[in-house]
Amino acid sequence: MLLGTVSQISQNPYKLIYLIDYMQLNDAIKKRRSVTRYLNKKPDWRKVVRAIDAARYAPNADNLFAMKFILISNEETINKFFDASQQDFVSKAKYLVVAVSDDSKLVAHYKERGTRYSALQAGAAIQNFLLELMEQGLVTKWVKYFYDEKVKEILGIPEKMIVEGLFPIGLETKIKTGAEVLTDLENIVFFEKWGEKKMTPNPIVTLENS
Ligand SMILES: Cc1cc2nc3c(=O)[nH]c(=O)nc-3n(C[C@H](O)[C@H](O)[C@H](O)COP(=O)(O)O)c2cc1C
Repeated sequence: MLLGTVSQISQNPYKLIYLIDYMQLNDAIKKRRSVTRYLNKKPDWRKVVRAIDAARYAPNADNLFAMKFILISNEETINKFFDASQQDFVSKAKYLVVAVSDDSKLVAHYKERGTRYSALQAGAAIQNFLLELMEQGLVTKWVKYFYDEKVKEILGIPEKMIVEGLFPIGLETKIKTGAEVLTDLENIVFFEKWGEKKMTPNPIVTLENS
C-alpha cells in the first residue's frame, strides 16, 4: 500500500518527503511503550538532553514554558529513588530524569486556571520528551507514584514546585515488559456533538442535487 502511494505522488519530490516524515511520526507514536528493564550499558547522556530539548517544542499558554528537567546519572542518587517511589525498576536505570513544573508565572497570568494550564503543558512536553527518547533509541516509563517530599528532599527541589514524573532511562533488553491495552477508537471519538458516534459524510454532489 505504501509503495502504491509513493509511486502515485513521486512526480512531486516535496510531497514524497512529507509522506515519509509523516510515516516516521506515526510509527513513533504507535510504537512507544513503557519499558522497565534496562541493559547494563550506559547510553550517551547527550541523547537524553536531546529528548529534553524536544520538550521545549510543545505548545505553551502565552509561550510560558514552565518546566525544568533534572538529569541524574549518579548511581548513588538514583538508588535513593527506590525508597522514594517504592518501585524497584526506577533505581535500576542508568539515568533518571525528574520533570518539574513551576506554575507560578502561569498562575500570575491566568489566576486559578494557571495550575491547570501548567499540568496540560507538562503532559504535552512530556509526550515530546518520550517520543524523542524513542527516536534516540532509549526507553523509559513515566512514573508518577512517589513520595513527593522524599523526591524534593533528595534533589533539593523547592517545596512549591510540582514534580510531574520520574523517568528511569536506559537501553532496552530483549525482554518485553509492557502490556498493550489500548482504548478502542470508537470509544473516544464523537462527531459533531457529544455522544454522536456516527460520521455523516457530506452528500456527494451530483448534477441532480447541485
Ligand atoms: C500520569 C502517569 C502516571 C504514571 N505513573 C506510573 C507509576 O507510578 N508507575 C508505573 O509503573 N507506571 C506509571 N505510569 C505508566 C503507565 O502505567 C503506562 O503508561 C500504561 O500502563 C500504558 O503503557 P504504555 O506506556 O506502554 O502505553 C504512569 C503513566 C502516566 C501517564
